[in-house]
Amino acid sequence: MCYPPPTETIVPLPGMYIHCTPQESKLLSVVASRANELGYPCYLIGGFVRDKIMGRPVDDADIVCLGDGIQLAKAVAESFHPKPSLAVFKNFGTAQIKLPAIEIEFVGARKESYQLDSRKPAVEQGTIEDDQNRRDFTINAMAISLNDANYGELVDPFGGMSDIEKKLIRTPLQPEQTFADDPLRMMRAIRFATQLEFTIVPETFQAIQSQAHRLRIVSQERITDELNKIMLCKKPSIGWKLLMDSQLLPLILPQVVDLQGAEYIDGMGHKDNFHHTLQVLDNVAAVSDDLWLRWAALLHDIGKPATKKFEPGHGFTFHGHEVVGARMVPKLFNRLKLPMNEKMKWVQKLVLLHLRPISLTKESITDSAVRRLLFDAGEDIDSLMLLCEADITSKNKVKVKRYLRNFEWVRKRMQEVEETDRLRNWQPPITGEMIMEYFRITPSKQVGIIKDAIREAILDGIIPNEYEAAFRFMQEKGKELQLTAGK
Ligand code: CTP
Repeated sequence: MCYPPPTETIVPLPGMYIHCTPQESKLLSVVASRANELGYPCYLIGGFVRDKIMGRPVDDADIVCLGDGIQLAKAVAESFHPKPSLAVFKNFGTAQIKLPAIEIEFVGARKESYQLDSRKPAVEQGTIEDDQNRRDFTINAMAISLNDANYGELVDPFGGMSDIEKKLIRTPLQPEQTFADDPLRMMRAIRFATQLEFTIVPETFQAIQSQAHRLRIVSQERITDELNKIMLCKKPSIGWKLLMDSQLLPLILPQVVDLQGAEYIDGMGHKDNFHHTLQVLDNVAAVSDDLWLRWAALLHDIGKPATKKFEPGHGFTFHGHEVVGARMVPKLFNRLKLPMNEKMKWVQKLVLLHLRPISLTKESITDSAVRRLLFDAGEDIDSLMLLCEADITSKNKVKVKRYLRNFEWVRKRMQEVEETDRLRNWQPPITGEMIMEYFRITPSKQVGIIKDAIREAILDGIIPNEYEAAFRFMQEKGKELQLTAGK
């Protein structure tokens, strides 16, 4: 039931109520009234129905009417003061209204296949059943009537409700047809399976495997949109595993496919890096909602296949995989059409530095090493530490405990060093300008030499991170370079 109820109550199944916010209730009653005036049978459909039944939050609603969706949208928009913004997509016969709490999309029921990328103008008008036939999954094809005669009735010809109960993703029609209509739906199946933690029924999954190649005709932006949604799920590994098993992953990101597989030579082996990566990803997802930290987790070992070597008597090595991996990040972001901006640089930085805290736990930890890590990671140190802790995926509980304890120790040392040296947001106490002014020199190699020497001296703990000490150090360095102070 809409709560508080508008004039009518929405009851999809006996004893089952849909709870709406006051804004949603008002909106539904306005839509119902305007549709009634226009003489259009009208239904709520798609994600709104699914999410409300499942008790999930909603921020958009789809309305399908047996009539002109654009006209209905216009009439609804007129009913609100101030009038909300209305976007009309004539080619698709759809219109969208943005209210503060919710976006509503209106469409007239159509008979033909769902063709999002089609430039064809309006297709033939159909019944509500025709419209439901063209939808992607049974759980998305349920409709709730907003008509006077049967307000609140659930129209569920494909058993969407039962699939919600059984936690199943299934296409309403033959899956091959549903996926042929829009191959992005293969990605959507996996995204919903990950988001809702549902199972894709075997018939639907097999169709994804056989039609995977058709993803090629889908724009990278739409694919990546789904990937980001998978990434933001509670357990993103579910989606990446399904992408692998469905044969979609080689088309999307073959570099991640290359991580798969463990190898043994002379009884010496290495772990399956795909499996490990997914564990790291889930570990990160458990402690952070940050999309980019999750991408960094997925890509942290991406350089391993290219650097893998077997050293007899020693085993497999992946020397320099963090450097190679960091170099791969821009290409992968570009391929996925992820933003080529500071987000990409941030992920690249984390991939590059992901071994540093671990190496600190292995060597006898010096203040200089701690300072260098703080300096190199800067304000990203906390995210880097989260990634490194997530990177501990050993099955050996004693080992895991020991590593985590060591990380605690590194964190403590970092805190101590940070308190005295404040390196996290390091600004050199002596700038290039100051050096040039003091020695009355123009931009030159010498300025760089002095600047670097000051930074190294601070990081090595030879001088404190303070103006006075750095100034004296600059004077000494200048002398060594036979520079004299200007007057
Ligand atoms: N739909 C479809 N095929 C697509 C995209 C959408 O059949 N490729 C239909 C589904 O019925 C879907 C509805 O259009 O429920 C609305 O689409 P959209 O807003 O993209 O998805 P939601 O189901 O609302 O879910 P989400 O908002 O999480 O994407």
